[in-house]
Amino acid sequence: MRKSPPLRGTVRISGSKNSVLPILAASLLAEGKSKIGEVPFLKDVVIMQDLLKYFGAEVKWDKVNGFIEICADNINGYEAAYDLASQMRASFLVMGPLLARIGKAKVPLPGGCAIGSRPVDLHLKGFAALGADIKQQNGYVEAYANKLKGAKIYLDFPSVGATENIIMAAVYAEGTTIIENAAVEPEIVDLANYLNGMGADIRGAGTDSIKINGVDKLKGTSHNVIPDRIEAGTFMVAGAITRGEIFLENVVSDHLKPVIAKLKECNVEVTESEKGIKVCGKDVIKAVDIKTLPYPGFPTDMQAPFMSLLSIAEGTSMVIETVFENRFMHVGELKRMGAQIKIESRSAIIEGVKKLTGTQVRATDLRAGASLILSALVAEETTEISDIYHIERGYSEIDKKLIALGADLEKVK
Ligand code: EPZ
Repeated sequence: MRKSPPLRGTVRISGSKNSVLPILAASLLAEGKSKIGEVPFLKDVVIMQDLLKYFGAEVKWDKVNGFIEICADNINGYEAAYDLASQMRASFLVMGPLLARIGKAKVPLPGGCAIGSRPVDLHLKGFAALGADIKQQNGYVEAYANKLKGAKIYLDFPSVGATENIIMAAVYAEGTTIIENAAVEPEIVDLANYLNGMGADIRGAGTDSIKINGVDKLKGTSHNVIPDRIEAGTFMVAGAITRGEIFLENVVSDHLKPVIAKLKECNVEVTESEKGIKVCGKDVIKAVDIKTLPYPGFPTDMQAPFMSLLSIAEGTSMVIETVFENRFMHVGELKRMGAQIKIESRSAIIEGVKKLTGTQVRATDLRAGASLILSALVAEETTEISDIYHIERGYSEIDKKLIALGADLEKVK
């Protein structure tokens, strides 16, 4: 990548990675065909598709038109193959559907990843509350239950994945399940809308108390995935950091409130309309303080991308990461590009600098990789980013989208 001119033009945001993955897992619950639209072309979707096929589902993915057809009439497998499931943490989301549909599931215990240990204790606490027998051995989690029974479950932390897994496990449970302190992310609402479209009875998704009344069966349905609010936020920063003027289509402003608020605090002009969001970057980028929180707070997934903008802001910014314990892997790489950042436990203090300088850097995880791309757009000289497979897990054709906006980059095999 080389220093790019101010980005200009329109970009269409793809469907949400963190919505399509639980929705695809949920398709295991139903008989009949589901047609999921707005499916982003991502490596993580390839892995989830392969998992569904592995369990016996028929899956057809029209990558050109962005939809996947799934028929899960014959689900015969319940053990997720290690070589498949271990590639992606979100594979653990098949546990709830398998437990609900066939009463048993065996899934590799997700390993840690670059951003933290990523335990699944809250998922398992929920399954146990519904009456499942849980065993952890040889690096696998096994869960068995003849008939799950509705229960009242309190989540110690509003975990997105635990909320999704417990909702999916509870759809066929006898009686009513209530999840207290549930995650309220838009992706939870999208999953609930898909499940209710199949005949589930889920109320309160999007609030911290979700009620699921068990039903007898679900039938496949059509559903379009919501736009990816993190991809949208990332492109908004791209427009701001290059002082460009870009228009984002296929976005839900409501899902981006904290990101829009912070961009405006940085002196970036953001205009929302029914058609989409316009972002105009100004010469002066003001330093701001950020604290990541569960939705509707500032999203942890935008922490790394936003830090690129703050590294060339005028003044000192403070970023506090409260959701994951090790989500500053991008800082070392940004410092190689000349950023002035100091880390004290979960806080990063960023002294804005006049310019960044290109060099060789490495993507350590999905959003850290995105922050390197954003910095490379404005860094003097050339930046070479390696391990970009991390980035391609969560950003559909990000190179093509940026080049269409005028970025000076090419993907090197
Ligand atoms: C989802 O991960 C997203 N992934 C993450 O996006 C996102 O950062 C995260 O939610 C928070 O918004 C998908 O949706 C596929 P959590 P998830 O359970 O479900 C702790 C990206 O870049 N925790 O809400 O794993 C956990 O350790 C990815 O797109 C427990 O302690 O997030 C973490 O500190 C990264 N026990 C915190 O909760 C549990 O059982 C938030 O985790 C579960 C979680």
